[in-house]
Amino acid sequence: MDTATAIVRGVPDTFDAALVMGERPKLEVAKARKQHANYCTHLAKAGYELAELPADDDYPDCLFVEDTAVVIGRVAVICRSGASARRGEVGPVADRLATTFELRPIVEPGTIDGGDVFIAGDTIFVGLSLRTNHEAVRQLTEVGRELERRVVPIEVQGVLHLKSAVLPIDDHTVVVTPGTVDETLLSDFEIIPEAAEERHRFSALPLADGTVLVTANAPKTANLVAARGFSVVPVNVSEIQAADGGLTCMSILY
Ligand code: GLY
Repeated sequence: MDTATAIVRGVPDTFDAALVMGERPKLEVAKARKQHANYCTHLAKAGYELAELPADDDYPDCLFVEDTAVVIGRVAVICRSGASARRGEVGPVADRLATTFELRPIVEPGTIDGGDVFIAGDTIFVGLSLRTNHEAVRQLTEVGRELERRVVPIEVQGVLHLKSAVLPIDDHTVVVTPGTVDETLLSDFEIIPEAAEERHRFSALPLADGTVLVTANAPKTANLVAARGFSVVPVNVSEIQAADGGLTCMSILY
């Protein structure tokens, strides 16, 4: 059996300058590093071989590797971020993926962040957000056609990425922050609404060993997921969340 791999990237010294949508919080590099290391330990415990890329201080958001590429079958789509300051993050990730996958870069004027994409069965869901535009969806649809996957675009309101608001737990179950997307587009899923008092705190990452990492500061929503029979593992990533990140953002799993 092939080994599961997780691409991760270190927290740069400049993390305190990471992009944030709202009022800028004071971000602590040391705390983020500790939480990132703990997250990596959970991935390793679940059986992933870690491909650890070094941090780059020129890119405060470089730990959020998810945004740089999306693996779909034999292909890795290389993203062109909607945040121009983040576009230089892709190089080392693309180099690593090129050892295993055929690369398909999204080209200008397309912009897309991997945080806007999730795959369930043969469907690729793509958020139309501040970072991802219609042209990128068109290019992704071409790739999807080649791979016999359909693409479903979803407008995203009030959050950074699709996966800030729609968290796949498995191919049939998602947690959704109410009011952020048209839920009729997710009618094939069982939808678990994020608890109102935990709004924008829940994030989840399903792992190859069957466990699901969940954010430690959203226990009510995590309990709703656990009640469906999932084995949830709470992880504290508060400093990562302060920089508009979540559990999916810090790795590319394949
Ligand atoms: N800080 C995550 C992002 O803005 O892309």
